[in-house]
Amino acid sequence: MGPLVSLLLLLLTPAAVPGHGQVHVQSSRGDTGLVPALRLRTEQADNAAQYAGYQVLRVNVDSNGTLDLLRTYEDRPGVDFWTPISPLVPTVDVMVSPDVRSELTRRLKDSGGSYGVNIGNVQDAIVRQNPIPSPFYLELLEGRQGYQLTWKAYHRLAVHHQYMDYVEHEYRGLCSTFSIGISTEGRNVKGIRCGLGEREIWIDGGIHAREWISPAVVSYLVKDFSATSYKEQDILKAFTIYMIPVLNPDGYEYTHTGRRMWRKTRSRTPGSSCVGADPNRNFGYHWGEAGTSTNPCSDVYPGSRPFSEPETRGVRDFLLQHKNKMEMYISFHSYSQMLFVPYGHGTERPSDYDELLRVAQKGAAALQAAGGPAFRVGQASRLLYAASGGSDDWAKAKANIKYSFTFELRDKGFNGFLLPSSLIEQSGRETAAAVKAMIRAIL
Ligand code: ARG
Ligand code: ZN
Repeated sequence: MGPLVSLLLLLLTPAAVPGHGQVHVQSSRGDTGLVPALRLRTEQADNAAQYAGYQVLRVNVDSNGTLDLLRTYEDRPGVDFWTPISPLVPTVDVMVSPDVRSELTRRLKDSGGSYGVNIGNVQDAIVRQNPIPSPFYLELLEGRQGYQLTWKAYHRLAVHHQYMDYVEHEYRGLCSTFSIGISTEGRNVKGIRCGLGEREIWIDGGIHAREWISPAVVSYLVKDFSATSYKEQDILKAFTIYMIPVLNPDGYEYTHTGRRMWRKTRSRTPGSSCVGADPNRNFGYHWGEAGTSTNPCSDVYPGSRPFSEPETRGVRDFLLQHKNKMEMYISFHSYSQMLFVPYGHGTERPSDYDELLRVAQKGAAALQAAGGPAFRVGQASRLLYAASGGSDDWAKAKANIKYSFTFELRDKGFNGFLLPSSLIEQSGRETAAAVKAMIRAIL
């Protein structure tokens, strides 16, 4: 669809009719306000337009020369590595601006390298990923079901928060909301706990802002542990499950309103004009080692010190308070279809590695049995690349949580971060099956 056609469609939707375009939502600061629906749509179009002419290439890195060539493009404007430059993997996915595209592909050809095109039109893929339901429909839905969340679209932070408030209200006695603090820009880092058990489990999503499938899947888990809780009584009698769908709310909102491919937090770094730290490099275990960059403009900048970010401090303080009860930590990222077991900062293994592997393998098997794809199970440092300061490693080594895992959800790069919203429900279903199998493996 050409931009003109999209614009026409945009103008023809009911939301764009003046006086009809008000949608009642809870703002990110927790108060209730009116957000003009037209603005939401215009923001999405603007956001996508920044990526006009951008492509995502899959570069074959079977030769060392190609790896070195790619390294010269790190931290360059118009270049965004979607998968890391790593000798462990045969290909690297990289999003490039039109200018960089012509230069890089020419140099690859000159040096005998090769590449394919994962996404030929990033701007189109952004628009197609998430057809926003009309505000009229969402209002109807809220009247009917009590909330606007659908699992058929990727929603704003306020809709996730509204859903947790709904679950707390509807499943009183089973579920209640909680907060681990306030983000740099003043948003609530909000979660919901469900269950009646003494034993505890932690689940978080949205550490990385652009990995939209992650918050969507975590809110699917919230539904499973509340609306269909009668099926999961064994789990909910033994455990209380703490779930935070959007751990990095500032980054998440920015991917909706500013830049779709933002990854980090939105903290300000003194002495630099670049914003944000990688929250999954900001935890205080082997902080600032492999897989990080001291350049504040880098996407893997670990922050100025361990736990420089209020969002990761919130996780730290909460988990340390629950040190004796918390038994499992699961963090959701995308993409790659992998399930990681510690450690990820290097190739060393904890002494109970085999036991963690057993539980992870049950998860991967259940995911596939629920109609999902194959997920590779193992250490991030062996399957993908070593990366230090991750939440999973810290949870295991410092918060004493025995079972610590990171999921890399769908897909394998065909859509990458731009996984169409039509795949949320299936991803949620298969991932919920995996999580429940992993919990039952330690019941
Ligand atoms: N893609 C994730 C990241 O880059 C993987 C994290 C795996 N865990 C780790 N401790 N390295 O943050
Ligand atoms: Zn991630």
